[in-house]
Amino acid sequence: RRLAVVPQGGNTGLVGGSVPLFDEVIVSMSRMNSIISLDPLAGIVTCEAGVVLERLNEYLEERDFVMPLDLGAKGSCHVGGNAATNAGGIRFLRYGSLHGSILGLEAVLADGTVLDSLSSLRKDNTGYDVKQLFIGSEGTLGIITKLAILVPRKPKAVHVAFFGLSSYEKCLATLVRARSELSEVLSAVEFLDRSSLELVTRHLPGARDPLAASYPFYVLIETSGSDAEHDNEKLNRFLESVMTPSSGAGDAPGGEALVQDGTLAQDRTQMKALWKLREGIAEALMKNGVVYKYDISLPTDKMYDFVEDMQRRLGQRALVVGYGHLGDGNLHLNVSVPQHSTEVHGLIEPYLFERVHAHKGSVSAEHGMGQCKVKYLHFSKSPEAIGVMQRIKNLFDPHGILNPYKVLPARSAPT
Ligand code: MLT
Ligand code: ZN
Repeated sequence: RRLAVVPQGGNTGLVGGSVPLFDEVIVSMSRMNSIISLDPLAGIVTCEAGVVLERLNEYLEERDFVMPLDLGAKGSCHVGGNAATNAGGIRFLRYGSLHGSILGLEAVLADGTVLDSLSSLRKDNTGYDVKQLFIGSEGTLGIITKLAILVPRKPKAVHVAFFGLSSYEKCLATLVRARSELSEVLSAVEFLDRSSLELVTRHLPGARDPLAASYPFYVLIETSGSDAEHDNEKLNRFLESVMTPSSGAGDAPGGEALVQDGTLAQDRTQMKALWKLREGIAEALMKNGVVYKYDISLPTDKMYDFVEDMQRRLGQRALVVGYGHLGDGNLHLNVSVPQHSTEVHGLIEPYLFERVHAHKGSVSAEHGMGQCKVKYLHFSKSPEAIGVMQRIKNLFDPHGILNPYKVLPARSAPT
């Protein structure tokens, strides 16, 4: 009947991808929630799209595996939605993009055809890898119904450290040190600024600053490995190296230590408490008022310049905070205001995206285009690339009924 549809998972997206604009019919995926199988030899789990990420992770952990993806919305988001939006999250640094972890999928096309690409082969070089098109397509090419995901073994030893630092340069130098000294056990490097931490401790019950003094920046480092003793030894050497004042040689700015203060979680409860300081920022921002959320990829050394520049631009009008996936060059720049302000919104956009473009960054590192960023696609994709995307969309969905008005600029449907 050519009715337009919007596939909806946990509805936790941040760019309105699962929200209809006009009279589209919502297709809820929540009852397609079976975990079909786990192949322990190959480490491949097969499940339906509506399984909640946290539930799948718990299922896997009970069997000594883990999902290669973790993010703040894990308690509600669906793995189908994660695939459709190519979600990034906090394990990206270790396990990479879902484009690598998803080995196969099943999708329903606009004409009702069920496309079975549910292969669970590690290697398959038989021409075009069609399933990749659905990962990150945000429901505009088909509705993902099943997935086969490559899942790593559950790490036997996990450690989390939380540091206070006096400058963003020191965060960068700590990242470089962590990469070289923790190397194969390093699983996450996240950062937040002081305002982000203050929001979390103000708005989230039970959240408290674990350090004695306050610092302009904080870095959270996680290691995951298979040998607790070995990892501990590495981590202790690393802690000593970042907390010892330098001679001025190498990556550390002279004199002061890279890290001014730090704490290492002693058990699972403390680990969760430290992670909450980072993962709880989004929730704390929501409690603080109206928030304009930006999710950009930039050269890592330029990331915080964008926050400071926006702070200068908006002055007293708003609170501008910066946090994100330092190890992935992914900044979450968020602007908090008591109520919606056309003036503030107009000062942020398109200015911010023009600057991102000038630095060859991405207007969406991990949240996708949804409906909120469509008009900025050209800042991150060439006209030729947008043209190819349009042609792919026409091929899969000639009548424009799959999640219309999302990802791509509007076009007139062929008659
Ligand atoms: C995060 O990393 O916390 C989210 O991607 C960003 C957010 O929800 O603001
Ligand atoms: Zn994020």
